[in-house]
Amino acid sequence: MIKVVFDYKCTKEGENLKNIIHHSHLADVTQNIEILLSENAMYFLNHETNPPSKIELKEMKNAKSNDLVYKLFPKKNSSILDCTGGFGRDAIEFSKLGYKVTMIEENPLVLMAVKKFLDKYDKPNLRLIYGNSLDYLRMKSDSFDYIYIDSMFKKSKNKSKSKKDLELLQYLCREKITRFNLIREAKKNLCERIVIKDSSSSLLKYDSDYSIKTKLIRYNILKGNI
Ligand SMILES: C[S@@+](CC[C@H](N)C(=O)[O-])C[C@H]1O[C@@H](n2cnc3c(N)ncnc32)[C@H](O)[C@@H]1O
Repeated sequence: MIKVVFDYKCTKEGENLKNIIHHSHLADVTQNIEILLSENAMYFLNHETNPPSKIELKEMKNAKSNDLVYKLFPKKNSSILDCTGGFGRDAIEFSKLGYKVTMIEENPLVLMAVKKFLDKYDKPNLRLIYGNSLDYLRMKSDSFDYIYIDSMFKKSKNKSKSKKDLELLQYLCREKITRFNLIREAKKNLCERIVIKDSSSSLLKYDSDYSIKTKLIRYNILKGNI
């Protein structure tokens, strides 16, 4: 169950959020999640852990090495479509390195948290879109150098900040198997390459031209059609 707590300054926003939850798949979330909303911030308390873990978007140090990102997306200052925006950790990191990033997120709670965070900072290279990236890929008129897909929902005992994010996303996000559809649709688009983030131990099979691996993550690369 998702409970929303808000202060008097954001009554409208809070009531909206409750309405969205009530009329969507989020009403069926069984885990005990609390959302705390104020004028400038939104954070989540995951009561499934003991003690409850707090998930709040903050400016963070880059988690990936710059070299890794440049290997994934070799053309500097190019454009990336991040089809699975989530809390935007990857998208923000890419945008800080000069890439022009468009991130799409379909979950309204996740989107609102990211939007509140982005409103506080100047992120000129980052555009946030609410919607389903499958539809966007089918209909879009813009083109991108790279398409990025991260539907990595693997459970982990690691309690690092990003793992707490992933655990919460697992509870809140409905569709965990859009990856194959997204890859299929992305392949129809003109781009230099499609980068799919996966866990290094994943057994999921799909065509890729090669992989770039770190200790925990495997980035599968599909060459695009330009
Ligand atoms: C594993 S998370 C991505 C984490 C993200 N890379 C980050 O750094 O925070 C996957 C996210 O993709 C979103 N998602 C999955 N399928 C989607 C789709 N077809 N369109 C838009 N968002 C989607 C989910 O709602 C979820 O928030």
